[in-house]
Amino acid sequence: MTTPSNSGGAPGGSGSLPKNVLLGVTGGVAAYKSPDLVRRLVARGCDVQVVMSRGASQFVTPITFQAVSGRRVRDELWDEAAEAAMGHIELARWADVVLVAPATAHFIGSLAAGLAGDLLTTVCLATAAPVVVAPAMNRQMWANAAVQANCRVLTERGIRILGPGAGEQACGEHGMGRMLEPAEIAAALLDAAGGDASAPRPLAGVRTLITAGPTREPIDPVRYITNRSSGRMGFALAAAARAAGADVVLISGPVSVKTPDGVRRIDVETAEEMYRAVHREISSVDLFIACAAVSDYRPHAAATEKIKRSEPEMRLDLVRSPDTLASVAALPNPPFTVGFAAETQNVAQHAREKLERKRVDMIAANKVGPDCGFDRETNELTVFWHGGEVHIGEASKDVLAERLIALIAEHYAKRGARAAEPKGRAAEQKDGAAERRAGAAQPTAGAAEFASRDTQQEPSE
Ligand SMILES: Cc1cc2nc3c(=O)[nH]c(=O)nc-3n(C[C@H](O)[C@H](O)[C@H](O)COP(=O)(O)O)c2cc1C
Repeated sequence: MTTPSNSGGAPGGSGSLPKNVLLGVTGGVAAYKSPDLVRRLVARGCDVQVVMSRGASQFVTPITFQAVSGRRVRDELWDEAAEAAMGHIELARWADVVLVAPATAHFIGSLAAGLAGDLLTTVCLATAAPVVVAPAMNRQMWANAAVQANCRVLTERGIRILGPGAGEQACGEHGMGRMLEPAEIAAALLDAAGGDASAPRPLAGVRTLITAGPTREPIDPVRYITNRSSGRMGFALAAAARAAGADVVLISGPVSVKTPDGVRRIDVETAEEMYRAVHREISSVDLFIACAAVSDYRPHAAATEKIKRSEPEMRLDLVRSPDTLASVAALPNPPFTVGFAAETQNVAQHAREKLERKRVDMIAANKVGPDCGFDRETNELTVFWHGGEVHIGEASKDVLAERLIALIAEHYAKRGARAAEPKGRAAEQKDGAAERRAGAAQPTAGAAEFASRDTQQEPSE
C-alpha cells in the first residue's frame, strides 16, 4: 500500500493549486479524460491520489492513473492492508481538496443521501476538505428531477458543482451533461479551493442566484415574443460574483453565451419557467440578482398549430407574466434582492419608483434604445438604493459587472446575511403564496403591438 504523506499544504493560500488533490473517478464515459486532468494537476505541482469507483475501472484501468499520478490507485474500501491504519480516514485527512471528475448520477445521489457504500463516498463524508464535483451524464439524466434535486442538496451543503457543459455527447445526443474539459476543471479548482489569497473575495460563500437573458413566449409552435437581451450582462455578473467568492446559480433564458467556470446553470425558456426555477432555488439563496429581461406579457394561449396567413389583420390576447422580482422581494425572509430596470426615458424616476414599489434593496438602471443597452458590448448603469445612488460610466459589460458586484457586496455586508431558512413544507407553502400573489395572470387591453414595446420590460442587458 502507498500511504499518502501529508505535505501540510493548505488549500490555496499562495495562489497555487492545493497541494494534495484527492481525485475521485466514477463510472462515466468521460472518465477517459481524467488521466489528462491528473497530468495537468501534477504539472501544476499537485500530488494527486486517485480513488476509483468500481464503475470507473470499466472505462479506464487503474494502471493508467498510476502511470500519470505516480501513486497506486485506491479503489477498495475493504483493503486489509490499508485499513489496518484506517486508510479511508487517512485519505480523508490527507486531502486539501476532494475533486470528483467525472461524477456520475449514481455518485451524486449517494453523496446527497449521505451513503458511504464504497471508498470514494466514504472519504467524501469523512473529509473536512472542500468537495468539488464535475458531473457528466446523458442530457436526459442531467435534466432528471431527481438528479437536479440531488445537485441542489449538494450546493446547499457547500459542495461546488463545476459544469456540466453542453455539446455533443457520447450517446450521440446533444445537450447539457458533458463534463467540463480537464483544463477548465483544473483552472476552476484553484478558485474552488480558496485560490489566490491576495484577491479580494467580498462574497465568499454567499449563495447567489442570478437570472439572465431574454424569455420566449410562444405564439404558436414556430413564433414567439421576445426581446433584444443577449444575456451578456447577466453572465458577466455571474462570472464577477464567482470571482468574488460567491456560490453562483445562473438561471438563463435562451442565449448563446458560455457559462462562466464554476457556475451552475439552469436553462429556461418562458417567463413562467423562469419564475418557477427561481422559486425552486430561492430558499437557499442569500443574494438574488434579477438581470433577465423577462417578458411582462405573454399570449393568453399559444396556438397548437402554426397560424396561417389568411386574415388581413390579427390580434393577440396577452396576459401578464408572473413578476419574479416582486415575488422574491415579498417573501417573508427575502434574500438581498437586486433588480434591473431598462427604460427608454426618465430612467432615474422610473428606477426609484420601481425600487419603492417592488421593495427591493437595489435597482441597476440603464437606458435602452437604438444605440444603447440591449445586445451591445458596452453599457452604463445608475444604481439606486434606499438613500443613495451612484453612476457607473460607460464600460464593457465585464467591467460594469465587476463594479456592480463590488457595490452589491458592500451593501450586502451592511445588511448582513439572510437567516437560514430550511426548505421545509412551511417554506414551500410561503413560496406558493407568493407565487399566487405575483403569478395571477391578468388580461390586458388588446395589445397586438406589444412586441414592439419590449423595452418596457423589467430588467435589461
Ligand atoms: C457504457 C456506459 C456509460 C455510462 N456513462 C455514464 C455517464 O456518463 N454518467 C453517468 O452518470 N452514468 C453513466 N453510466 C452508468 C453508471 O456507470 C452506473 O450508474 C454506475 O452504477 C455508476 O457507478 P459509480 O458512480 O459508483 O461509478 C454508464 C454506464 C455504461 C454501461
